Amino acid sequence: MMRYIFAISGASGPIIGIRVLRELLRSAEVYLIVSSQSFSIIREEAGIDWQAGSDAAVEKKIRAFLGTKKVFYCNENDMAAPVSSGSFKTDGMFIVPCSMKTLSGVANGYTENLIQRAADVTLKEGRPLLLCPREMPFSAIHLENMLKLARLGVKIAPPIPGFYHAPVSVEDMIDFISGKILDSMGIQHSLYRRWK
Ligand SMILES: Cc1cc2nc3c(=O)[nH]c(=O)nc-3n(C[C@H](O)[C@H](O)[C@H](O)COP(=O)(O)O)c2cc1C
Repeated sequence: MMRYIFAISGASGPIIGIRVLRELLRSAEVYLIVSSQSFSIIREEAGIDWQAGSDAAVEKKIRAFLGTKKVFYCNENDMAAPVSSGSFKTDGMFIVPCSMKTLSGVANGYTENLIQRAADVTLKEGRPLLLCPREMPFSAIHLENMLKLARLGVKIAPPIPGFYHAPVSVEDMIDFISGKILDSMGIQHSLYRRWK
């Protein structure tokens, strides 16, 4: 069984992260970190309320929503979580969507919270790391942070839609972007129709 770390940070578009997560859970177990800011954006944008009185209650809600027990919730402030150590083996990490704050933290090794620490560990261990940075437009600071990480082999996969698969709905666009994210990490899916 493959094992991934999956983080949802406080950028717009957590619905894309949730789509990728659902697909990933078909073939892997996932250690999920949701930033505190992202909990409110998930509620605002997607109408999903994952907040609860304890970490165990949050995990229960997430498992019920995703219909699997293969997801393990980690609090972003729990720096002693398994994913905080390189000795805890994983096959890589996704941050979808990735805010400019989290991007900066990862690019500069700041490790302010568990998302940034887990990404730092993934990098130092030479494991696959994918960031889906969401902002519009990007400043030179954002672009420099992305370039720095891209040069280290990090996959920078922003939520940019394609049109060659003739999308007719927002759902189609989400599936396309989610499929491209999974492609970038070499994970099989059937979320969009491939060219020819
Ligand atoms: C509704 C909403 C949408 C936001 N969208 C973005 C975004 O697309 N990109 C971004 O970098 N920050 C966005 N922000 C700001 C981040 O949430 C903020 O910088 C936060 O501190 C990020 O923290 P985190 O990366 O630890 O989740 C948004 C905030 C709100 C309230």
